[in-house]
Amino acid sequence: MPDAVRFTLAPSSEPALEEALSELFVSWSIRAGALSVWVSEEEADEAAARLEAAGLEILGRDVEAERDWVAEAAALQRPVAVGGLVLDPHDPASADPGGRRRLLLPAERAFGTGSHESTRLALRLLVSSVPAGGSVLDVGCGAGTLALAARAAGARRAVGFDLDLEAPLASRVNARRNGIDGCAFWGGLLESLSPGARFDVVVANMLHEEVGPLLPGLAALVRPGGLLVTAGQLVAREDEFLRLLEGAGLRPRRLASEGEWLGTLSVRP
Ligand SMILES: C[S@@+](CC[C@H](N)C(=O)[O-])C[C@H]1O[C@@H](n2cnc3c(N)ncnc32)[C@H](O)[C@@H]1O
Repeated sequence: MPDAVRFTLAPSSEPALEEALSELFVSWSIRAGALSVWVSEEEADEAAARLEAAGLEILGRDVEAERDWVAEAAALQRPVAVGGLVLDPHDPASADPGGRRRLLLPAERAFGTGSHESTRLALRLLVSSVPAGGSVLDVGCGAGTLALAARAAGARRAVGFDLDLEAPLASRVNARRNGIDGCAFWGGLLESLSPGARFDVVVANMLHEEVGPLLPGLAALVRPGGLLVTAGQLVAREDEFLRLLEGAGLRPRRLASEGEWLGTLSVRP
């Protein structure tokens, strides 16, 4: 594990951090009245320059050796309840799931523990709309969260792919650790699907720029009368994104948001 640099800032800087440090691999937390931001040594100077450019005062900078960022991030994550499911990053369980089904999804290599707003949005729209016995395609599956939740919510089959080759491996591990069958995951792009493939629901939790160009291809994979669920776009660009959906031949039916993040559910006529 390489050394990390920790910057100390005033807690009031937190709302501006995401924009100031976008594209850098950072983590942060507020404890004991101080905001700590960790970044790799290689990116520390760039992070400092960006913080200063954003007008955020750096109160302290020190090097921390051998920090396990993944474990630290995992420790900060909380279980998330969606519909009849609880996504829990901790083993043993960190909370009583009550009458809900618990899915164990530790924060490991691939994105998708349910702690991010866009994953929760996609889950909410997906879990409430997946038809019992239906088929689901999870585009950009990350840790497999959406496909596994779809199966747990009653889908007969849920498959997913991701251009990140670690994602299908993480997804398979998560399927096994939760005893969920009826899933398949692979590394690849949209072109890896056969042109005749059709699904009851296609779900993609991906940024506007990533999913936008894929929309016509995704719409073609939805059976007539089926659904496309997206999340990961920005509320601020809602109109633009709705036009893209309509341009791909889809009819937006439901919108949802969490913070700055937009989720959509559309029907293929
Ligand atoms: C925000 S993560 C979502 C992961 C997971 N589906 C979830 O909701 O937690 C987006 C994922 O999409 C993948 N991705 C981005 N562009 C892609 C593309 N063109 N084809 C396949 N996967 C893509 C990324 O590698 C990443 O794993």
